[in-house]
Order: sequence, then structure tokens, then C-alpha cells
Amino acid sequence: MSGTARIAAEHRRNIVVGVGGGIAAYKSCALIRLFAEAGHHVRVIPTESALEFVGRATFEALSGNPVRTDVFEDVPQVAHVRLGQEADLVVIAPATADLMARAAHGRADDLLTATLLTARCPVVFAPAMHTEMWEHPATVANVATLRARGNTVLEPASGRLTGVDTGPGRLPEPEEIHALASLLLERADALPRDLEGRHVVVSAGGTREPLDPVRFLGNRSSGKQGYAIARLAAQRGATVTLISGVTAGLTEPAAVDVVHVTTAEQMRVAVDKHAPDADAVVMSAAVADFRPSTVATAKIKKGKAEPDSIPLVRNDDILAGLVRARDDGKLQKTTAIVGFAAETGDADGDVLHHARQKLARKGCDLLVVNAVGEGRAFEVDSNDGWLLSEDGSEVAMEHGSKALMASRVLDALVAAMHRRNP
Ligand code: CTP
Repeated sequence: MSGTARIAAEHRRNIVVGVGGGIAAYKSCALIRLFAEAGHHVRVIPTESALEFVGRATFEALSGNPVRTDVFEDVPQVAHVRLGQEADLVVIAPATADLMARAAHGRADDLLTATLLTARCPVVFAPAMHTEMWEHPATVANVATLRARGNTVLEPASGRLTGVDTGPGRLPEPEEIHALASLLLERADALPRDLEGRHVVVSAGGTREPLDPVRFLGNRSSGKQGYAIARLAAQRGATVTLISGVTAGLTEPAAVDVVHVTTAEQMRVAVDKHAPDADAVVMSAAVADFRPSTVATAKIKKGKAEPDSIPLVRNDDILAGLVRARDDGKLQKTTAIVGFAAETGDADGDVLHHARQKLARKGCDLLVVNAVGEGRAFEVDSNDGWLLSEDGSEVAMEHGSKALMASRVLDALVAAMHRRNP
């Protein structure tokens, strides 16, 4: 997630949060709070029916600004023109089927839809509705119209809907909407749908290698970068399988199939199962290179037979195995493979020197390189680094959110997929 660290004054933006009339309107409160706490200027525009679910006073208190629904309120201010013109970003959450239908048809029958017509900034719709409504040809056509006009319509999450129903149609979590919407502010354009029809497998998080029933060897990977890549790939239209090791308690991204594993060997089995069907595999997981050669069946106790060392054996290198399988024809030749490298640099050479060697050694299409050290790469919400490609290109990635890193990695991945499958 992009977090709620306060932004510098020059990055303060005008955010309009539009709220549609659905039960998920209550979740918009958390979203409004995330934007306001980050330091943005937030105006909330609910529809009349949204106020059936959440009261005006709640929106006013959270945003610190007055809340109107109608173009005839506050007429001298010409709010329906001004709010849209001044907005740097409009986020509609929840976007109901009715609200998207009205937006797709250019209606202006309340303050929110009028604002949409005057806004020239990125607009994000975060849909929430019952599965039948989401899959109805009318909604499908309206979503296509909105996307064709340069709006971003997020894929909804699957899961529990109102009542006993489950299926696609759940509002993505407020933190996810915030991260994706903030990315649009950073990129200043809509999310492309350039991964539509593609299957992308992403591994993320760290592995744990057990020593005995209560102890393990692990690492500091939070999974944030891999989850950001999986989340964004799904929002760019891909079918995504996320093979997740241990993370810092991250919630599953919307519209992503998640397979949970713990050890490096379980991760290898899961990656090998899903890779043959994939157009791209992104190995962002921090996979343990070694595991204890034996796992004690009972807890190792102090006092008797204390071990003075832990004998280790090598785990398979999953990434190298994928490249070998592709060379041997066991994976499609068109499958693009992305590796990650966390480097510190040492007496033999700097970070880039080691990264170039790793790209050559592993034989992947792209290597995402992060310099690691105190407060860098692990467990934090932002990152920087380089993108090295097998075609020799080396691109420095300036410091930015993990969502922005994910978007740069996917831009390069789309280019690599195109090189493999022109
Ligand atoms: N990786 C993997 N299987 C492993 C270890 C690592 O697939 N058993 C993948 C990681 O997911 C990552 C890449 O390999 O994409 C780089 O991992 P790293 O451990 O840094 O590479 P090594 O070749 O082990 O190099 P080093 O000597 O730096 O440990």
C-alpha cells in the first residue's frame, strides 16, 4: 500500500471523492480519510441516495469541507463547474451500476455527474454492485464506454456481497483504491488495459524454512512490492495468479487469485504448476537459498543436545529453473520471465555490477534491481532502483511509491512480452 505519509505542500492536490448510493458507501469514509490525512484538499460529492447510507455530517467532518449533492445548492459558487475544473483527480467509490450508466451517457442530473462532465483530470471508478449487475450487458457496455473515454474503471474484488451472495462486485479495499488512485496522480493518465487476455504469475513475500515445529529461518520481505505488481497487473486487465509466501499481513488484492505457500519448495511447486499457462512470470518473492538439512520433529530444547550450528542444504533456484524450462521447451517460448535482485554492493563491485552479472547468470528477460540497506527496499512503502533488460537497456527508476515501481515494471514487462511474442 502507498501508506498515508503526509505529502509536501507542493504535492497537495484537489481530490473529489464521489460517493454512489450503495452499502459500500461506508467504506468511502476510510478512503476520504486516507486522502485527507495525506494532506490533500478533499471535496466529497455524494449522490442523494448515498446520503441514505452515510450522513452528510460524516463526510463534512472527514473532509473538512462542506458537502452538497445538488447543482441548485450554493448557486453563486457555480459548484458543478468549479469543483470539476479545479479537480486534479476524481475518485468515485462506490461506483454503482446506475451511477456508471449516468456517467457513460453524459447525464448531469446531480452535482456529481455534472462535476464529471467538467472534470479534465484522471477519473477513477471503483465499482461495487451485485455480480449479476456487474455482468449485465448494459453495465459491461457502460464500463467499456467509460474506459474508451480514458476513465479508469477498476476491477471489483470477489467475495462477500450484501446478504448471503458472493462473487465479483465487491468494492476493492479503501487502501487499494487509494494506492491505485494515487498512482494516477503520479502518472497523470489512466491505467492502460494492456494486459487484457494475458495470464501473469507473480510470486511475492518471503519463505520460511522450518527448523523445528516452532522455529524457522525467514527473511524481512513484506511482500508489498509483489502485491503491488499483482494488483496493478489485474487492474491493467491480466488474469493474475499471486503465489504468496509470508507477508506483513497484507490483504489479498482485488481480482487476483491467491495461492498461499510457506516454504521455498512449496513456492517452487506452485510456480511450476502455474507457469506453463502463463504469458509472464514475475519472481518478486524473497526465496530462501538454503534450508535446514533436517527438521526436528520435536522442539529443540535448551540443556540437552544443544546444536552449535545449523547444517543447511541448497533450495532449487525457481527463477533459473523457469528459464531452463523455457530453453528446454517445457514452458512456452513466449513466456517473459522477470527476476528481482536485492543488492548491497561490496569489494567486488557496486550494486549495478552485481546486478548485470545476475541478469546474465539467471537468463531472465528483465531484472528489477533494488539497493538494500537500512530503511531501503524492505518493509517500507517506497523504493528506487534500476530495470535491466536482456536487450541491454538499463533504466534508473527514481524514488517513488511501490505502486509507481510496479507500474514501471509492468511497462517494461509489456515491452518484453512484445519482444517475445511480436
Ligand atoms: N530466486 C528463486 N529461487 C531461489 C532464490 C531466488 O527463484 N531459490 C529468485 C528471486 O525470486 C529473485 C531472484 O531469484 O527473483 C534473485 O534472488 P537472489 O537470492 O538475490 O539471487 P541469487 O542468485 O541467489 O544471488 P545471491 O548470490 O545474491 O544470493
